[in-house]
Amino acid sequence: MPVDGKTILIISGGVEALPIIERAKALGLTVAVSDGNADAPGFSIADFKIIASTYDEKKTAELAGELHEAHSIDGVLAAAADVPLTVASVAERLKLPGISVNSAKIVADKLLMKETFSASGIPVPWFSQVRNASHLEKLLKEKKALVIKPVDSRGARGVVRLVEGVDVEWAFEESIKNSPSCRVMAEEWINGRQISTESIVTPDGVMTPGLSDRNYEQLERFAPFVIEDGGDLPAILTEAESAEIDRIIGKVARAIGMKSGTIKGDIVIGSNGPVVIEVAARLSGGYFCSHTIPLSTGADFVGAAILLALGEKIVLDDYRPRMSKAVCQRFLFPEPGVVRKVEVPEIQEESLAMLKVYVKEGDEVKRITSHPCRAGMAVTTADTREGARAAIKRVFDRVTVKVEPLIPA
Ligand SMILES: Nc1ncnc2c1ncn2[C@@H]1O[C@H](COP(=O)(O)OP(=O)(O)O)[C@@H](O)[C@H]1O
Ligand SMILES: [Mg+2]
Repeated sequence: MPVDGKTILIISGGVEALPIIERAKALGLTVAVSDGNADAPGFSIADFKIIASTYDEKKTAELAGELHEAHSIDGVLAAAADVPLTVASVAERLKLPGISVNSAKIVADKLLMKETFSASGIPVPWFSQVRNASHLEKLLKEKKALVIKPVDSRGARGVVRLVEGVDVEWAFEESIKNSPSCRVMAEEWINGRQISTESIVTPDGVMTPGLSDRNYEQLERFAPFVIEDGGDLPAILTEAESAEIDRIIGKVARAIGMKSGTIKGDIVIGSNGPVVIEVAARLSGGYFCSHTIPLSTGADFVGAAILLALGEKIVLDDYRPRMSKAVCQRFLFPEPGVVRKVEVPEIQEESLAMLKVYVKEGDEVKRITSHPCRAGMAVTTADTREGARAAIKRVFDRVTVKVEPLIPA
């Protein structure tokens, strides 16, 4: 069904939302953008602007309702923003397709999510809410490898592994201070390959064009924080493992009550198969949906999400990977200090798909405790994983971010 002439509301006008807004425009849609920052880059290419924080579901729904009376909106989609309640509130108020408020509540709360999954027979790690540091101390005596996390944060903020030498009180504080509702949970740490997944859910079935091996080779450098250093596509999985992931995401969709849309998953392949760490009922951030998946597979993942948000029927086969190119993404993590020099030369590298350096001279690089601390990012493609990794190294070798260490007080 042609969708040109329809209007979509994209929640977030941040820099990572730009490719999603651009894709909607390329499909012939009129695009409204909402963001709390009046200077958000997405507004410069939007047809309509709504100034409301992406986290403010009431205000966004109210202003979207006002716009809807003057100019009909046909769908709503969050772009690189973890705001399921805002999307669901707009969808409910404007009677649009999209996740229900109830589904949004489940995915916005890691404890409720795990309870729901566990009751539906979806494999999850052992978990428990943690009341305080002494409760955590007690759990640590019973379980051997634990990780704690705020039930309602993102970007690895406050996700702390209780490895040897970590002070339990400090860890609990670090976690709870990142929880808006002041709630912390503990989980058994599952050893195994860490996979990022991004799936398309339709009434006809589930397909997962996005499968990436997350790179945790710097886990010890950043311990006890859990900091991912990019990923490699395609993930190296057996057919049985990929099929099991589709089956699990199908169960996840049913458990949260989603009939169509996209699901981003954090999955670990444990000793008994895939285990769900968490899911998000939205498009991924970090350029996974907009760049690395299409570069690797040719699948127009964002296009699928836009059509589903408009309530259009799509054919899953149209998004089946058409190719399998190796894609490597890595982040720049300088040591903490003050940035004294940044040099990013023009790099003539055929395999280079994306290079971004976020820091400038004078900026302070803090200790890396969560994903927003990244100082830069590159994406390369090649025929082989080794080739894409070697290209990343060549690119980063030519980028200079010189940091003067801070002298501890
Ligand atoms: N129980 C666990 N076992 C193994 N890895 C985990 C576990 N919990 C978290 N992780 C790792 O830490 C990352 C961040 O934790 P997550 O619960 O996804 O929080 P966030 O919302 O901040 O992404 C996960 O994507 C996963 O790589
Ligand atoms: Mg996560």
